[in-house]
Amino acid sequence: MRTQVAIIGAGPAGLLLGQLLHKAGIEAVILEQRTPEYVLGRIRAGVLEQGTVDILDLAGVAERLHSQALIHGGVELAANGQRLRIPLTDLAGKAVTVYGQTEVTRDLMDARAASGAPTIYEVESVELHDVTAARPGVTFVHEGSKQRLDCDFIAGCDGYHGVSRRSIPAEALSVFERSYPFGWLGVLADVPPAWDELIYADSERGFALASMRSATRVRCYVQCSLDDKVEQWSDERFWNEFQQRIGADVAARMVTGNVLEKSIAPLRSFVAEPMRYGQLFLAGDAAHIVPPTGAKGLNLAASDVFYLYESFNSYYKNGSRAALDQYSQRALRRVWQSVRFSWWMTSLLHRFPDEDPFCGRIHGSELEYLFNSSAAQRALAENYVGLPL
Ligand code: APR
Ligand code: PHB
Repeated sequence: MRTQVAIIGAGPAGLLLGQLLHKAGIEAVILEQRTPEYVLGRIRAGVLEQGTVDILDLAGVAERLHSQALIHGGVELAANGQRLRIPLTDLAGKAVTVYGQTEVTRDLMDARAASGAPTIYEVESVELHDVTAARPGVTFVHEGSKQRLDCDFIAGCDGYHGVSRRSIPAEALSVFERSYPFGWLGVLADVPPAWDELIYADSERGFALASMRSATRVRCYVQCSLDDKVEQWSDERFWNEFQQRIGADVAARMVTGNVLEKSIAPLRSFVAEPMRYGQLFLAGDAAHIVPPTGAKGLNLAASDVFYLYESFNSYYKNGSRAALDQYSQRALRRVWQSVRFSWWMTSLLHRFPDEDPFCGRIHGSELEYLFNSSAAQRALAENYVGLPL
């Protein structure tokens, strides 16, 4: 088998790249180790920057998004019994779009199926070959038979645990990492949100986030211990904890209800540099992870993919390798801005188990400054809606 770009991974990064390339008349084959149902079963964040929506528009996959997504012109913070609305549209000139990653993935899968471009699901033993040669290839096992896909380039869109980044020699990569001493317990439930916009809450009991998927479905989180198991959190315990953290007014008027999904995720910041090795280009979670505070993960995957698409397009249309050579630097500049912002927002809103009295006071002052300074609020707004591409 032969193609122009071999894409490893059919998460949002791989599917979006596939769709943009397809529209530009560039051939790609996507290889995915799981089933489509498994990929759609993963519940992730749900806040899209305007830049991400623009890229989805460019890919021609935003029709359902435009009819169903919620547009939020602000976001709220809660701390010390007070609430603060950050008017995103006023302070940063842009709103954010609330639309689940699962829905983005579904729209991309539908578009790919309609285009007839090949995605091979349930591949095993994926291996990258001749990555530094002019004609690299990918071998894999599908339905019991080993196959080779020859290509010009490999796009590693296979997430944090994928094979692509691991195929780069350790000495060619620099890795930057921070693990946070807590996780997020998330719940999806079919109840109408008792909040108009997202609420990020700092409390003595730890962080909580009130989010939503639609007018009838909420997504809520509480900071939990890394040792916690989902089984230890009954629905009742979850709602009780959430209500104690989110603020008395919201707790008083919210309804709780049937939980559809409950999961725990650790929080981590991770960056691997550079995002290119020979003919292999990394995009999305394969190259970097951010903690979910600020909802940058999917947005970063989209901006990487946009830069990579432009680079391939310029190579195939003009024969120029300049953009490919710039890709890693260009993508990493934006990655680090989001890594910094999500690290800052995580530090601001969570209680660290090892927080000493000095850090406790600094934490309190930082919150007080944010609640009282329009300059600080503007900085938050500018980053939350997304820095320019
Ligand atoms: N071969 C083929 N596919 C693989 C392999 C492999 N060896 N390893 C992993 N994959 C697949 C996974 O099954 C998954 O479907 O690659 C896909 C990677 O998808 P994601 O993990 O969703 O990563 P990405 O597409 O970069 O999306 C980034 O996901 O984690 C969130 O916050 C993140 O929202 C952001 C988004
Ligand atoms: C979500 O809706 O799942 C969500 C929203 C905002 C975040 C993280 C997750 O920062």
